[in-house]
Amino acid sequence: MIRALLFDMDGVLVDSEGIAISIGIEYFSSKGLHLSQEDFKNYIGTGEENFFSGPAKEKGFHDWSLKEASSFTRSRYLDRVKKESIALAGVKEVVKSSRKAGLLMAVCSSAPTWKVLANIEAIGLESSDFDVVVSAADIKRNKPYGDIYQFALIRLGIAPDEAVVFEDSLGGLAAGIAAGCPTVGLETSVEGDRLLSHGAKAVIKDLSAIGEFKSSEELEQKLFGVKKDDMLVYGANLIGPIKGGCNKEILLSQALEMAKKARANAYAPYSKFKVGAALVSAATNKIYAGCNVENSSYGATICAERNAILSAIAAEGAIGIDLLVVVSDDNPPAPPCALCLQVLAEFSRPETEVVLSDLDGNKNVYLFKDLLPNPFIFPTMRK
Ligand code: THU
Repeated sequence: MIRALLFDMDGVLVDSEGIAISIGIEYFSSKGLHLSQEDFKNYIGTGEENFFSGPAKEKGFHDWSLKEASSFTRSRYLDRVKKESIALAGVKEVVKSSRKAGLLMAVCSSAPTWKVLANIEAIGLESSDFDVVVSAADIKRNKPYGDIYQFALIRLGIAPDEAVVFEDSLGGLAAGIAAGCPTVGLETSVEGDRLLSHGAKAVIKDLSAIGEFKSSEELEQKLFGVKKDDMLVYGANLIGPIKGGCNKEILLSQALEMAKKARANAYAPYSKFKVGAALVSAATNKIYAGCNVENSSYGATICAERNAILSAIAAEGAIGIDLLVVVSDDNPPAPPCALCLQVLAEFSRPETEVVLSDLDGNKNVYLFKDLLPNPFIFPTMRK
């Protein structure tokens, strides 16, 4: 059950990147070094020291000091956030709903304390709206280490799996995951599929995508698509529960891409018929790919679909399959063979989507039950 929400600041609650970079450019320019926006890109959200020292190091520039850069920034930043609107959409609504639903909230930012407090004020909130505010001064190791989130969890008295981390950067996502929290990626600076492939449990455009909610259960449903009486089970082993909430289109295009890549590695010297497959694990939204691997003893050949299932199980244990894609150079695109369908039945739902694609992207979409309506299920395993 969700009991707390842990928010990164920049890219989640506010967008102060533009102001920070333009002040950074102004500072270095006053020292005789001319930098562009691009020079700062890799150092956003990594703490003030890295923000200045990163671009300076890249240019081999030493004639500056952190203390000076910091005070140069502070006065200008405080002035500008009063005039420019930096609040991101949906922040106030989520804070209000969380409060009403009895959820705890924390801001966990690698920015200096003065900046975090100024940003909270610029949103039109007060630091007392949050139960905990953690900033650079509270921790030694910045994101991607999990310290900042672990520290917030300890102060809130909450277990990692009871808190949801909201992050927009890959480093921040890694920090949330390192602390053991489910993480939601915001597509404010990185594309959704990259957030997913770096472990985000769900992706949203920004906090406005959540809208109003009245309880922890409702929020969980909105974020991850889990409803207690709506838990689906998979296959003969009754694998569950599932999690959802991710953008299906993103997962499909990523799975197709991975299946195509795997297909290129197919070992098919006998048939010359290369197949790639990829499946989406229902528990983690991770995608596992496989290709066909043939053998001198033809019967020992393994199909792409079974290969993908085996690597998924090696990584996660028994899995539920949310989506399967199969890519081949065939017209119409080839379906899984009967042997693969039987193996798939162990881990699929009747409604699991199976997308068959050729190399030009022409697709036929089936439900698993249409391909194998009556799989053999061991008597003691039948529902
Ligand atoms: N193959 C697959 O990989 N998946 C299927 O479902 C159909 C067949 C492979 C196995 C063999 O390497 C080649 O295609 C020709 O049968």
